[in-house]
Amino acid sequence: MVAERRVAFVGSIFIRGGRTLTGTVEAAGAKNSALKLLAAALLAPGRSRIANVPDISDVATMIEVVRGLGAVVDSDADSVSVDATRLSSAEAPYEVVSRMRASIAVLGPLVARLGRARVAMPGGCNIGSRKVDMHISGLESLGVEFAFEHGYIEATAPPGGLVGAHIMLEFPSVGATENLLMASVLASGTTVIDNAAREPEIVDLAEFLAAMGARVTGAGTSTIEVEGVEALAPAEHRVVGDRVECGTYLVAGALTGGPVTVRGVSPSHLEMVLLKLEQAGCEVRATDDAITVSRNGPLRATDVQTLPYPGFPTDMQPQFMVLMTLADGDSVITENVFENRFMFADELVRMGADIRIEGHHALVKGTPGLSGAPVRSTDLRAGAALVLAGLVADGRTEVGEVHHILRGYEGFVEKLASLGADIESTAAPEC
Ligand code: UD1
Repeated sequence: MVAERRVAFVGSIFIRGGRTLTGTVEAAGAKNSALKLLAAALLAPGRSRIANVPDISDVATMIEVVRGLGAVVDSDADSVSVDATRLSSAEAPYEVVSRMRASIAVLGPLVARLGRARVAMPGGCNIGSRKVDMHISGLESLGVEFAFEHGYIEATAPPGGLVGAHIMLEFPSVGATENLLMASVLASGTTVIDNAAREPEIVDLAEFLAAMGARVTGAGTSTIEVEGVEALAPAEHRVVGDRVECGTYLVAGALTGGPVTVRGVSPSHLEMVLLKLEQAGCEVRATDDAITVSRNGPLRATDVQTLPYPGFPTDMQPQFMVLMTLADGDSVITENVFENRFMFADELVRMGADIRIEGHHALVKGTPGLSGAPVRSTDLRAGAALVLAGLVADGRTEVGEVHHILRGYEGFVEKLASLGADIESTAAPEC
């Protein structure tokens, strides 16, 4: 059943390091796509069906958001249906937005369909301040008027509806590109989004919107062009595979030797990660939808800098840092997308890593081994990275605050155990 409950997990993940991971796991549908597709379903009256939706707590939160707006949501084995025939509210309240910033994705669809939206202003989070100014200024270009009151963003469309415009993003923000794309499909005339984000999840969203009757070209490039239509119809869509989840298991293979194979993700979505794994001394083999990583020799120090797609993903930076803690030599990891995304490095240092942070650079000196310790996950990817560190650490590692990990990884412990990890979890839904 796809995340039906309202999930709040308590507990820890325990790992005893030293096992070689081998075998095959299937990647789930991409979290970062599924959340936006659930929001996009609000654009059309009727029942859309989205398949390959991951069973993770962020999806449960987004279901809560769209239900709160009046949509009827049902789920079965791996799909979620959203019937957005009647929307009774245009408000995403603080309580959910503060739990999951991606709730801001309903802003564009609501203002396009209902002419108004009231969405709590997302606050800071563990990986930085994460502003929404580009979402706002882009929507203003489409004619939306904003008021900011009592911690809420109040958006109002012009009386005749949104009007297409030329929008140049200052930075290829994923969330801003998606919100503008979802708003502009119902705007009159042509919208051009320049310096758009090019992530595979943007392409996935554009494909869903096209299936709903939207006219979008250029998704996956820096210039997206949208010809607005009067109305959209519900559609069916299958969520693209999760490239970050896939990359996380590939790093598990790289750390322990593998071979580890991950199915369900196009290798073209992970090109830079695969290149960096090869530079780090791994062997990478790829077919159309399976990627295998193994390693016989030592890990080589490899510099990495995070960049918008197709650059190295910021969501893979913590996992790669763990790999570099065990490499021969020194590497520099540069974080260009989010401030504050090195918080977890202190936890790795507690496990024996040699890492010095200087601004947005992490200077990592390879060490011969890590040592198991109680650590705390500070955010989703950092938590996953600490579990990876536990796989190769000497002795037992306890990763606490596991709810961060369960926001984005379906069956994380089970999948790692199926590859041979000595791992267990005391995580349980909070009653
Ligand atoms: C999405 C992903 C996240 C990923 C990130 C970058 C989801 C749910 N999350 O986040 O996993 O790490 O893309 O690939 O899809 N910014 C502004 N003003 C804005 C918007 C963004 O300054 O209006 C800044 C942010 O603070 C950040 C950078 O731009 O420093 C990138 O943010 P963005 O690409 O928007 O990431 P998200 O959509 O939040």
